[in-house]
Amino acid sequence: EKGTYDHYMLKEIHEQPGVMRNIIQNYQDDNGELKIDKAIIDDVAKADRIYIVACGTSYHAGLVGKEFIEKWAGVPTEVHVASEFVYNMPLLSEKPLFIFISQSGETADSRAVLVEAKRLGHKSLTITNVPGSTLSREADHTLILHAGPEIAVASTKAYTAQIAVLAILSQVVATAHGKDTGVDIIPELGKVTTAITAIVDDAPKMEQIAKDFLETTRNAFFIGRTMDYYVGLEGALKLKEISYIQAEGFAGGELKHGTIALIEEGTPIIALATQEKVNLSIRGNVKEVVARGANPCIISMEGLEHDNDTYVIPVVHEMLSPLVSVVTLQLISYYAALHRGCDVDKPRNLAKSVTVE
Ligand code: F6R
Repeated sequence: EKGTYDHYMLKEIHEQPGVMRNIIQNYQDDNGELKIDKAIIDDVAKADRIYIVACGTSYHAGLVGKEFIEKWAGVPTEVHVASEFVYNMPLLSEKPLFIFISQSGETADSRAVLVEAKRLGHKSLTITNVPGSTLSREADHTLILHAGPEIAVASTKAYTAQIAVLAILSQVVATAHGKDTGVDIIPELGKVTTAITAIVDDAPKMEQIAKDFLETTRNAFFIGRTMDYYVGLEGALKLKEISYIQAEGFAGGELKHGTIALIEEGTPIIALATQEKVNLSIRGNVKEVVARGANPCIISMEGLEHDNDTYVIPVVHEMLSPLVSVVTLQLISYYAALHRGCDVDKPRNLAKSVTVE
């Protein structure tokens, strides 16, 4: 039930701190050690390459997950859109492992890839919110998101849950490979939980940002670099699917290779700046679009903020900033859609789970 919330989407956004706590609880044993089935760890650790397959928001979570698996666990990882993979399979490594990310566990495009992977005799792991779902039953292994039912068509808490579970999995696999990542993931996820709580408590500020930047616009651009680029893709998807504003996410450095032609007087640009290594370069990209009339909304992180940033998220581990920065974008999208009179929980033309290819 929606309880006191006007929409399921808003409720599910606010549930995210609780979801993080559930994940921390479910993936930890009594001694505070990370807990994942040994059979899963063994199969993941045996793989020479990981193929993440998903659609939509789950695909965007996969992009973030790839960074964890490569940077922490040291396993080469590719992320693929399921509907493309089916018709255009990449050259597979000798010992591939497939990870399917799916909130519903019922997405037909992803299932088509799973069927093919099984036919080829490859191991598979499904990360899903729904125990007993098709992708869970048919894969060798399952990791559950523990996010609780997601009712709103626009996925929010499943995305952050997917990223958190991928972070934990990557840490466990790193350990299996004898690597010390230097990251104590449970306390780091604890900080993330506190930071998400601060942001949902700040919802009125996100409503104001939606008013200032998105009330009447025809289009909007999200830019970021590295992790922030992936979050920008998700922010753009969220905004377009519920508010019908044409929104696109771009890598900051790619703007000048074409997209900058679309910048006009007042075009909203939502820039994410949570990554130290690229902080100055993304701010350089913001200057480029401001010089052409763009209206910049800069979302940065404590420690990296500049004067006049629009919103500053609390500091968390850099690799985990997507879990926090995305919540600002979810709320901004929600309020943009609300103020534009859209049916937030049931956007036109969309279904919660896409069971046709
Ligand atoms: C966007 C959204 C979709 C789903 C996609 C995959 O908010 O909900 O993009 O993420 O259809 O669905 P699952 O994760 O159920 O496979």
